[in-house]
Amino acid sequence: MITDKPGLIEAVRDRFAHIDTCPFEGPRVFFENAGGALRLKSVVETSALYASYPDNQGRPNIASQTLMGAIDKGKADMRQFLNAPTGQVFVGESGTEVLFRLVRTAAVGAQAGGVMLRSTLEHPALGSSMTHWAGVTGRELIEVAHDDATGVVSVEAYKAALRPDIRVASIIHTSPVTGMATDVDAIAAAIREVAPEAFIIVDGIQHACHGPVDVAKAGIDAYALSPYKMFSRHGYGVGWASDRLTALSHEQIIGNGPTSWELGTRDAGAYATFSDVVAYFDWLGGQFSTSSDRRERLEAAGAAIHAEEAKLLGWLMSGTGNLRGLAEMPGVTLVGGEALEGREGVVSLRLDGWDTLKLVEFLGARGIRVHIRKADQYSGNVLSPLGMPDCVRISFCHYNTEAEVAKLLSAMEEAISAKG
Ligand SMILES: Cc1ncc(COP(=O)(O)O)c(C=O)c1O
Repeated sequence: MITDKPGLIEAVRDRFAHIDTCPFEGPRVFFENAGGALRLKSVVETSALYASYPDNQGRPNIASQTLMGAIDKGKADMRQFLNAPTGQVFVGESGTEVLFRLVRTAAVGAQAGGVMLRSTLEHPALGSSMTHWAGVTGRELIEVAHDDATGVVSVEAYKAALRPDIRVASIIHTSPVTGMATDVDAIAAAIREVAPEAFIIVDGIQHACHGPVDVAKAGIDAYALSPYKMFSRHGYGVGWASDRLTALSHEQIIGNGPTSWELGTRDAGAYATFSDVVAYFDWLGGQFSTSSDRRERLEAAGAAIHAEEAKLLGWLMSGTGNLRGLAEMPGVTLVGGEALEGREGVVSLRLDGWDTLKLVEFLGARGIRVHIRKADQYSGNVLSPLGMPDCVRISFCHYNTEAEVAKLLSAMEEAISAKG
């Protein structure tokens, strides 16, 4: 665990900008990580540096070659983070745009006929693209229902819906509303067993800040990341496409080569900031592993993050010191129940007697930044079946602390008393 190593949590926190102070509102605890994680200071510096360079790629000068070197390094780092020795990595406009492009390519290029399969847990970046491209390609869209009580979609639920003519299947790695992670490897294996030719596309956007990913092990065809949710910045999404997905006809500048996915001039700064993120994971993993293998150090970082976040989750749910946890507070309804196992960085709730927006403001006035999720196109799939018009989302990361959790729990007690 990070906090078991003297000085390490301080060193971690020191690497992030605005760790405990909002530049607009002053001191605050940041529990809005699922809306966009804190930025690494190195990312901020790199962004400014690359924004200052006027040169373009493909020129016979050192500036141009340096930019191209940063792109190559960024790609190598993406491959290492994703464990993707094969296939192609690329940058697009956003996580949503990358997912639409991956789904579009699979749906248009797959063998004609058959069906497409998605789950009701998905964020609309994946759900809407699957729905749109099933409609355009004239395929039935099968929807696997998630479990309202646990906030997750199970392997068994997928298995019950499988059939050999699935052409494209989608999986969300972690829900941004319930915080629950799906068993991507097992779901993908089950799909492969029944429909070996299906293109399997995974939305890893909510999962990725919790550690490296292993697309090779998962046996899938595509994976998408949003760097602003993993310590980088807005302005780009990252995609990985397997060799067989890349081999399908896809939009590209003719002449750029069959493996190219990028459209237009590449933002070298985007690739360079992704390298900063991977360097951070590498540094953190190096505190726990002496391995000379970088991928092993990235995995060690994931394990350390997982252990730290499990502790934070335990304090949030069951309390710390003399403070009760959220699961013990009267009037609190937790989205997806009280489960700790499989939960990644998110606890969403409603509090009896409170208008949710007012509660978000009440916590904000006490220096705690959380977010309201509404039963709209982004979260209605989870909240509407529960009869919830909205909820408060508390989302945390390994750089949060026990003291910050305590501050939140105290403010929640105050909110309960205020209505009591
Ligand atoms: C699971 C998931 N998928 C997709 C997205 C959309 O990502 P982007 O904002 O990069 O388009 C989000 C954003 O919240 C998300 O949480």
